[in-house]
This record gives sequence, structure tokens and C-alpha cells, in this order.
Amino acid sequence: MQTTFNLRQFEPGDLDKVMRINQTCLPENYSPDFFIDLHDRFPETFIVAEEDGRIVGYIMCRIETNFFNLTSGGKKGHVISIAVLPEHQHKGIGEALLNEALKNMKTIYHAKECYLEVRVSNVPAIRLYRKLGYYIKRTLHGYYADNESAYMMTKKL
Ligand SMILES: CC(C)(COP(=O)(O)OP(=O)(O)OC[C@H]1O[C@@H](n2cnc3c(N)ncnc32)[C@H](O)[C@@H]1OP(=O)(O)O)[C@@H](O)C(=O)NCCC(=O)NCCS
Repeated sequence: MQTTFNLRQFEPGDLDKVMRINQTCLPENYSPDFFIDLHDRFPETFIVAEEDGRIVGYIMCRIETNFFNLTSGGKKGHVISIAVLPEHQHKGIGEALLNEALKNMKTIYHAKECYLEVRVSNVPAIRLYRKLGYYIKRTLHGYYADNESAYMMTKKL
């Protein structure tokens, strides 16, 4: 497959474009402060994909520490949101965004595991996560605001 996109870290000036992609692709939307806070705290796992200089996708993550049970695996990466504009899907962009975030979770933040939630009906995303080695750890019943359940999927890093 010919790849014409490139990846780079999110910058605050990208906020409007990333928020628009989020609102176009997903029902889970966030305030501007939420995006900026994740960028400030974990800049290396907030990545955008560009095609012809235009942002067409993003991934943003959080690194979490379980202070109450450090023996259960240490730091975890949590994929908060990933999306690629519909007209730019199926070109490997989602996979590349996730792989880049996973690499940085491991090498920069020393996370031992990565997890995420996904709607049980979201076949494209579930296939992407399975392809990259995630498995379903549990079902979170009625997780979303519209009461749809989520799979929590996880992968060791
Ligand atoms: C999920 C999403 C990010 C995938 O992005 P993408 O750039 O189209 O994905 P890629 O082209 O990198 O595909 C990688 C793999 O994902 C899976 N996949 C992607 N789209 C798929 C589809 N429509 N149907 C089935 N599998 C699909 C395949 O396993 C694919 O590998 P393959 O090409 O070897 O078959 C994209 O569909 C999207 O933005 N969806 C809306 C937002 C969303 O649901 N985000 C996830 C919330 S948890």
C-alpha cells in the first residue's frame, strides 16, 4: 500500500482541527481543556496524522499509575480517543497512529500494558485492536452514555 501520510506530535494550534475530527467520528466528545491537559501531560502519546499538510486523524492517551497496587503491573497506557476521517480510512493511518503511541508508551513512559474501551458494536476498531494484539479482558455493561456496553481490551507492552 502506498503511504502518503506522516505522523507528528499534536501541537496546541491543532486543537480546532482535532476537535472537529473527534466530533465527526465519535459520539464521545471533550472540552478544549481536556485535549490540552492530555497534551501537556503526555505529549508523546498525542499524535496526529497529516495528508498533504492537512490533519486527518489523531490518537490521544493517558499514562496511569495504580498507586494502590503497584505490584499489579506498574504504569498503564490508556487510549482515550483515536479517529481517522471517513474519507481517509482504510489506508493504514489508524494502525500507524496506534503503533506510534504504543511505542512511545513503552519507551518514553515505561508503561507495561495498554488498555482501552471500545463499543461492542464497533467492528472496525475491534478488528484493528485485535490485529495489534489486544484481547478482550472484560465487558463493561452500559458503559456509554447511550447505555451501549464496552469491551475493555488490553495488550502487554
Ligand atoms: C477505527 C479507525 C480509527 C481505524 O482507522 P483506519 O485508518 O481506517 O484503520 P487502518 O486502515 O489502519 O486499518 C487497520 C486494521 O483495522 C481493521 N479495520 C479498519 N477498518 C475496518 C473496517 N471498516 N472493517 C473491518 N476491519 C477494519 C483491519 O483489521 C485493518 O487491517 P487490514 O487493512 O490489514 O485489514 C477508524 O475506523 C475510525 O476512525 N473510526 C471511527 C472512530 C472510532 O471508532 N474510533 C475508535 C473508538 S474505540
